[in-house]
Amino acid sequence: MTTIPRGSTSAQDATTLATEYTRGTWEHAVAHRRPGYSLEAPFYTDPDYYQKDLEAVFQKTWIFAASVAEIPEPGDYITLDVGRASVIIIRDDDEQVRAHHNVCRHRGARLLTDTTGSVGNIVCGYHQWTYSPEGDLIHAGVQAPDFNPACFSLLSVHVKVIAGLIFLCLAKDAPDDIDDVADRISPYIAPHALERTKVAFQEDLVEHANWKLVMENNRECYHCEAGHPELTCTFFPTYGYKVEEIPKRLLPAHDRYLAAEQLLSVNADRNGLLTEAIEELSGRPTGFRIQREALDGAGESYTKDGASASKRLLGSFDTPVLGRLSLHVQPNTWFHFLGDHVVTFTLVPLGVDRTLVRTTWLVHEDAVEGVDYDLPTLTEVWHMTNAQDAELCARAQVGISSPAYLPGPYAPHEYQVEEFVTWYIERLREHAGIEAAPAASTLAAPAGTEEAAP
Ligand code: FES
Ligand SMILES: [Fe+2]
Repeated sequence: MTTIPRGSTSAQDATTLATEYTRGTWEHAVAHRRPGYSLEAPFYTDPDYYQKDLEAVFQKTWIFAASVAEIPEPGDYITLDVGRASVIIIRDDDEQVRAHHNVCRHRGARLLTDTTGSVGNIVCGYHQWTYSPEGDLIHAGVQAPDFNPACFSLLSVHVKVIAGLIFLCLAKDAPDDIDDVADRISPYIAPHALERTKVAFQEDLVEHANWKLVMENNRECYHCEAGHPELTCTFFPTYGYKVEEIPKRLLPAHDRYLAAEQLLSVNADRNGLLTEAIEELSGRPTGFRIQREALDGAGESYTKDGASASKRLLGSFDTPVLGRLSLHVQPNTWFHFLGDHVVTFTLVPLGVDRTLVRTTWLVHEDAVEGVDYDLPTLTEVWHMTNAQDAELCARAQVGISSPAYLPGPYAPHEYQVEEFVTWYIERLREHAGIEAAPAASTLAAPAGTEEAAP
């Protein structure tokens, strides 16, 4: 049966669309995504759609792996599993950051099985083929006379270090717009001197939600007022609102924000810090947003009263009142850079409805635990906020899994969620060569629910 999409003017229009993409298929859903609305359920619940996400997004775009503070010395490594791929990120003997596929060139065994560690060389546990941190095969036992070790180096993965943040790309041809992103965000981040930080604490949280729900949740603060009592001690709940849209009850917070922004502006200028927002969340492979904004309370850090959590300031800052430099890079990361510490977030999809969120707190390399900082004060706000977000995302996942779920409209102050979803659909369309359906046809409601469409 041919369904005439709502908004079509003739049966001819409907026939053309039905011929291109069959209703109920992934291609149809990608072509007909309705702007301004949350995605249809299969994007969050269908394992086949999830596989497409891995192919079109996580194997194609730049993803955040770790900061340089996680591999400070030559031989230090982490491993990161993305779908069926596993990557070794290692600091080589010249202190360069390298990324290799975690697959032995002999008969394919997984090389490093720990998530973090330190090695002199990379030794396969099967037959002991041995690779340098640079990925060269340096020992393979007795081989045929014509065996050439140079032909069996580890397969490398694209890696890009941006002001101490390590990104990798699994694609053969990595999107080259990462260079533009690096040029534009490095001046914001560099003053925080990540190369002179250390890991104070790291926490892994498995959220029971599709990875996109975790990212969408991060792109709005609509839920913050009710959902994040600790975070909103310092994070202004007016985030995302245009001034004229701010609800009356939030006007006192907005007044405090304006005053705090004035002080931040003075302090930022004096410390040579950029504050202006750059927002390019869609329309490019590496969607990102960066901005420095004031914090409430003492304005120094993410603590209950806004005071610094570490006495050792980062870089060469002359004041802790520097607000938060917030960076978001699609598909899998966001960051907050404060005067006294940095929080990095790495998201890794584990399945259609499971997502790893790794949170890492960095402090100055010379800061001493128990003297300059204590972990409960440093980590409390984001530890609690993460747990609250995990609960909210899991709640969204089970609701979307119900047969009663229908895509719902984003509010104006959720515009960054719309931008993220737009970027996501762009990636799928580019991957599969799918054209967007004419605008009118995206108004079609799911079969059997026509009366629910506005
Ligand atoms: S599979 Fe690695 S040495 Fe044989
Ligand atoms: Fe949240």
